[in-house]
Amino acid sequence: MAIEVQPSGMACGATVRGVNLRAPLRTRDIEALRAAWLDHLVLAFPDQDLDDDALERVTLAFGPFGEDPFIAPVPGRQHVLAIERRADEATPLFAEVWHSDWSFLEVPPAATLLHGRVIPPVGGDTLFANQYAAYDALDDTMKQRLQGLRGIHCAARGYAKDGLYGEKDIGRSMAIRPSDDAKQSRTHPFVHTHPETGRKCLFVNMGYTTGIEGLPADEAHDLLLAIFRHQAEERFQYRHHWSTNMLVIWDNRCVTHKATGGYDGHARLLHRTTVAGP
Ligand SMILES: [Fe+2]
Repeated sequence: MAIEVQPSGMACGATVRGVNLRAPLRTRDIEALRAAWLDHLVLAFPDQDLDDDALERVTLAFGPFGEDPFIAPVPGRQHVLAIERRADEATPLFAEVWHSDWSFLEVPPAATLLHGRVIPPVGGDTLFANQYAAYDALDDTMKQRLQGLRGIHCAARGYAKDGLYGEKDIGRSMAIRPSDDAKQSRTHPFVHTHPETGRKCLFVNMGYTTGIEGLPADEAHDLLLAIFRHQAEERFQYRHHWSTNMLVIWDNRCVTHKATGGYDGHARLLHRTTVAGP
């Protein structure tokens, strides 16, 4: 069975067929999948009926498990999280703001894997934005302005006790564990050189980037707003449509992503792992 990679035709993303992820992967298949992942940034594997053992095995083919703060793993697992929503849930949608996963960590994850277990018949697409393309499209003046800047990343707006998913967030099905540890911030280069491809990309996001080191708050605010608008333009996007038993792996270092709704009245469940960076 030969691995077949079909590009989405959008700014990134490809669908991969011809590989059975339930079986242990051969070294040459892992190399081919890694190469496709670095080329296309987001890979979707339809019709992969994976249990958590298989999901963990595929994850480890890409690298060691990453750290996952603020969300408890599913029972019996250390590294598998449930991204879920009940049919009758009324809480604000989870992760509806553009972000890259856990960008506030010292070493954010290299990859995130999401496996669709219960997928609603409508809505629930995930949007991705290619941050190599977003960087490349900046004019030279802006590229120079951003060079050397460091973004301040912090999870407090989401995961602190007074955050969006904090103590006032009642009725959410996800096992979120808010903590004042979320108030800690870390900085990362605004323009990041990808450690595997050597290409430059933007590494800031509306979800977690709260300021710019060394810049006054109003100046940082204006620049961040301009970049947030730019980096999510439709020309950089890939809209991912889910199906049951689809696995998606994305490169968290060079894409941002966001959830979308539109499935009120339907349950949704995905299992997630991360691969440690860089
Ligand atoms: Fe996310």
